[in-house]
This record gives sequence, structure tokens and C-alpha cells, in this order.
Amino acid sequence: MKISTIILAAGKGTRMRSKYPKVLHPIAGEPMAWHIIQAVKEFSDELPTVVVGYKAEEVKDSLGDNAHFVLQNEQKGTAHAVQQAEDLLKGNSDIVVVLLGDMPLIKGQTLKALTETQKNNTGPVSMLTVLSENPRGFGRISRNKKGQVEAIIEEADCTSEQLKINELNVSVYCFQADWLWDNLENIPVSSKGEFYLTDIIKVATDKGLNVHAEAISDPQEAIGINSRVHLSEAERIMRRRINQTWMEAGVSIIDPQTTYIHTNVKIGQDTTIYPNTHLQGNTIIGEDCEIGPNTTINNTCIGNNCKIISSVLEYAKVENHVDIGPFGHLRKGAHLADGVHMGNYGEIKNSYIGPGTKIGHFSYLGDTTTGKNVNIGAGTITANYDGVNKNKTEIADDVFIGSDTMLIAPVKIGKGARTGAGSVVNKDVGEGEVVVGMPARAIRRRKDNSE
Ligand code: UD1
Ligand code: CA
Repeated sequence: MKISTIILAAGKGTRMRSKYPKVLHPIAGEPMAWHIIQAVKEFSDELPTVVVGYKAEEVKDSLGDNAHFVLQNEQKGTAHAVQQAEDLLKGNSDIVVVLLGDMPLIKGQTLKALTETQKNNTGPVSMLTVLSENPRGFGRISRNKKGQVEAIIEEADCTSEQLKINELNVSVYCFQADWLWDNLENIPVSSKGEFYLTDIIKVATDKGLNVHAEAISDPQEAIGINSRVHLSEAERIMRRRINQTWMEAGVSIIDPQTTYIHTNVKIGQDTTIYPNTHLQGNTIIGEDCEIGPNTTINNTCIGNNCKIISSVLEYAKVENHVDIGPFGHLRKGAHLADGVHMGNYGEIKNSYIGPGTKIGHFSYLGDTTTGKNVNIGAGTITANYDGVNKNKTEIADDVFIGSDTMLIAPVKIGKGARTGAGSVVNKDVGEGEVVVGMPARAIRRRKDNSE
């Protein structure tokens, strides 16, 4: 059976009080609507159709190739929104799933189970409900004496008796496709002048057709985001889910309450994450690492056996057995090879740092390459920017840079060379040469790398 999916996302989301479309607000680092598209992949091979309206171009740009889009020019209600997808989908599928762009916690397996239910339903629709004492403005499910669903009544239209109903409409429906397309136009206009998809339930029951409604087992999945308060609730629930998944996969998380892992992050076995750590974007962390506390790692790839304490890493690459921090900052293009040690207050940007190199204390290396086993003394600075250009510093293997050295780029330091404390190096230094002073001048040649 072919299943197509419609995600309604044309509304403004007024209660968010935002310049941005509601469905693009992120949960665990990705737009709300992105999470729903991921869930759809678990039961359908077809790209979902997203109904866009408010700031349609922004929504399309953000979701890109992951969906088809249809435009709802005027927001005349959820049934009118579904109608906008009719030309694209009619005749193409057996089942149509309709859900909302503002329910990022709904799980693929829940949706899949509902599609299975509908396959066996002789009636035209199966839908999800939620049992909750907190109505959150949801529509109420009205059942007859036999317990069969009769209608969904929007909160604004409820009598005081109906307001007490604790079975609520989640807004996830699974329709027999032909029936949906034939009956959308039978929906009457609501008291607010809109066409509500909820009213299609009564269209079915008035004809004596079976509506299957089942309560969702985890009410958290049903949360619809209408405000920033709901957004933070969803973020917390998603965080708990993600952290649990990683713990089950063999990652230790000391304090899941204060560990913030984005949805696309990957973490290796036996790595430990300490409190107040943020792992963001497409970050990948290897095995047996210790990460945090107080660390933010964004779009960075880290190998195995690394230790990162109280540091910020962005768009960087770190190989194996590297230790950073406290208070290190890797900026875009920093690449630390195996065994690099980077102590307090280091900053590295657009640089390759060779294996075994040590940068112990407060240094800035920008647009630099170093060879193997270089020692960068405390307070070393590469002066890479002359006000116009960013210039390169090249430091060969086994160089010893003395404390407080200024390397005025462009400059090259030859293999095994040494700079004295406080040198200001504005000319290339030859292999094995020892330079001191300001500007640095040669005083002798090093016999080995120890002097
Ligand atoms: C809707 C349901 C309600 C349910 C609740 C669950 C209706 C009439 N009500 O109410 O029964 O309990 O969801 O969260 O369906 N949209 C469009 N075009 C429109 C109108 C809405 O695309 O013309 C989209 C919105 O962008 C939003 C979704 O449909 O993503 C739902 O609209 P919203 O106004 O948030 O409906 P609720 O009041 O939450
Ligand atoms: Ca809503």
C-alpha cells in the first residue's frame, strides 16, 4: 500500500511572538518540522508534502530536498490546508497521513502503527487521541454511549460539559485516500469561518462509517508547540530521549539534566560526558574520550582517547590522544594531530598542529602549520594579520619556541630551531638555528634539540 503524508505548516504561529516561522524553531539543533520529516521516513518511502504559507520561502529553503511543498495562500483552516495538496497527491496513494508541523515529538513507530491499523480498518479514518488532564487548548473527542467516536469539538465550541472531556485530539489522522479527497468538500464552515479538518470526523460518522480512535501510549509525543513555553518543554523531553539513547549505546553521561546533545551528533563507546556540556551540529566524538565539564563542541570531529575540559571547539578536527583545556578555543579549520597537548587559554584557528606538539599555556596560533613534536612556549603569538592579509607561519619538526615569542607572519622556522624567550621573529629562521631578541637575530646553531 502506498502511503503519502501531508504536514500542515502554513500558519503564522502567532503565540510564538517570533519573526521566524514556527516550524523552523529548533529542537535539539534541528527545525521542528525536520523532526517530523524524520519520523515520516519510518513508515513511508514517499517524500512528505508540506503545506506552507506564512514565510513560505524560508520554510522551503530550510527543509529543502526533504519534502515537496504546496502553498496555502490564505490560512482558511486545517481542512483547507489539506485541500491544497489534493492536485499533487490525488490518485497517487492508498493512504494519506495528515499531521501538524508543530508536533516534533511524535515518533515514527507510533505513526507506523497507526498506518497498520488503518490498513485493517473498514472505515475511512484512524486517528490518535491523548488522555490528559491538561487540555492545552486541544479539541475534545466526543464519543456516544457505545464508546464510538462521534466528532471532534474544538475547545472554543465546547459546552461546559464537553470541556471536561479528557480525551483530546492529537491531530494525527490516517485516511483512506479516495475517501479523503471525496469528502473534504463536505466539511461545513466553522463558527470562526474556517474549514476544520477535525469536522471531517463527523462527516464520516454521520454516514455511519467507522472512525477508529486510539489513545497514544506516551502523552509526551502529542505535545503541540504553540508558545515558547511549549518549545522549552519539547526541548527538555527531546534532550532526555537523546541522552537516554546514548547511554543505552554505551556512553556515560554524568548528569543528563545538564548535557545538551543535538540530534545529529555521534558518540563512541565508553566515552564519558561531564556536566554542562553542549555537543552541537554534526559533531562526531570517538571512543574512550572524556568531554567536559563546561564544554561546547560544535560541528567538530574528535578521535579516540581525547580529553577536553572547559573548552570551546567549533568546526575543528582533533585526532586521537589529544588533550585540550581548561579554557582552550579551537576555531574553524583547527586540526590537531595525534597526541597534541593544549593547555590553558590556547586559541587555534585555521592551523594544522603536528603529532606530539605541545602548546602548554596561553597562546594564539592562526594560519599556522607545525610539524611533529614542536614545543610552543607560554604566551607565543602568531601575528598572522598585517591589517590587510592573513599570513602564514610554518614551523618545522622539533622546533622549540621560547616563552612569549612573537612570530610575525609570513615566517618559517626551520627544523629543530629554537627561539629565546621574548623573541620577535620577523625573518625566517634556518634549520637548527637559535635566535633571540627583538627583532630576533641568530646567536648560534643548535647541536641537538635539547639546548
Ligand atoms: C489543532 C486541532 C485540534 C488539535 C490540535 C493538536 C484543528 C481545527 N484543530 O488545533 O483539534 O487538538 O491541533 O495540536 O485542526 N495550519 C495551516 N493552515 C491553516 C491553519 C492551520 O497550515 O489554515 C497549520 C498550522 O501551521 C499548524 C497546524 O495547522 O501547524 C495546526 O494549526 P493550529 O492553529 O496550531 O491548530 P490548533 O489550535 O493547535
Ligand atoms: Ca497547534
